Amino acid sequence: MKVSVKVPATSANLGPGFDCLGLALPIYNTITIEETVLPGTGVEINLISEKENIDDIIFDNVPKDENSIIYKAVEMLYNSIGQEPSELKINVQSQIPITRGLGSSASVVVGGLLAANKLLGSPADTTALLSIATEVEGHPDNVAPAILGGFVLSSQEDDGSILTEKLIWPDEWDITVCIPEFELSTNISRSVLPENVPMSDAVYNAKHLAMLIQAVNTKNVKLMKNALKDKLHQPYREKLIPGMKEIIEAFRHEDGIIGTVLSGAGPSMLVISHKYDLDKIKSTVRDIWESLSIKSDIRTLKIEDKGAEIVEE
Ligand code: HSE
Repeated sequence: MKVSVKVPATSANLGPGFDCLGLALPIYNTITIEETVLPGTGVEINLISEKENIDDIIFDNVPKDENSIIYKAVEMLYNSIGQEPSELKINVQSQIPITRGLGSSASVVVGGLLAANKLLGSPADTTALLSIATEVEGHPDNVAPAILGGFVLSSQEDDGSILTEKLIWPDEWDITVCIPEFELSTNISRSVLPENVPMSDAVYNAKHLAMLIQAVNTKNVKLMKNALKDKLHQPYREKLIPGMKEIIEAFRHEDGIIGTVLSGAGPSMLVISHKYDLDKIKSTVRDIWESLSIKSDIRTLKIEDKGAEIVEE
């Protein structure tokens, strides 16, 4: 038996929502898992770059054996029902660029879990799958929208349970996703964050996240413009991302630009706008990166409302 799952890309954080906000985007990975009949063949993982507008995705440094994140997730699901994974053939057809802050690892974790769950006769419900995916990823902000679609607030509570709440993104707010050609691993991007932050910075983010939720719920552009600020991660990551500061600065005083934020752990960035010339956003960002000899892929995308879905059995 063979099961394929299509999973959207995701963008986490949205400025002040560090580790708890994320939205799904219409770029997809398709994960196929097949139980092979030949015993002793172990796990076989194939990663295939599906060229879209993005350059070929290079998987040279991605583990393709039992050490891969997708296998770990699948193994945890099997173990949760007292089983060991059988001989598995896993294919990932990938459109989501890796190590760019677009949830590629969350997508393979979610796709692997949903496919394996189907192969096992669906013993785990969405809550259980979210829980395993969060354990593998370390935080729920990418896996929640990858599973549920849309714009999601998520939290791993003290008892380990995962709370999710879907929010409605105002349709008239455009999201331009700016993807530079260079990679930045989440591990490196998290390694520059301090273990402790000043109380004033924690309060700063709490109030801006509260503003953000209210702004989205009431489609309040002015409030959202004020809300998209962060002191917990972006200032520390800026030094890892050439052009980030200049891109934020270029749009800071533009009417119609709601805000510019890092996508997840970066290096991709989101420019959120309302009734603004989208070509101008693209050329501004492209020019800044080009002046630093960095190629980029920039697209305005709608939020993907559908989460991961089984496309073939
Ligand atoms: N919230 C995470 C971070 C997303 O910013 O590190 C990346 O997995």
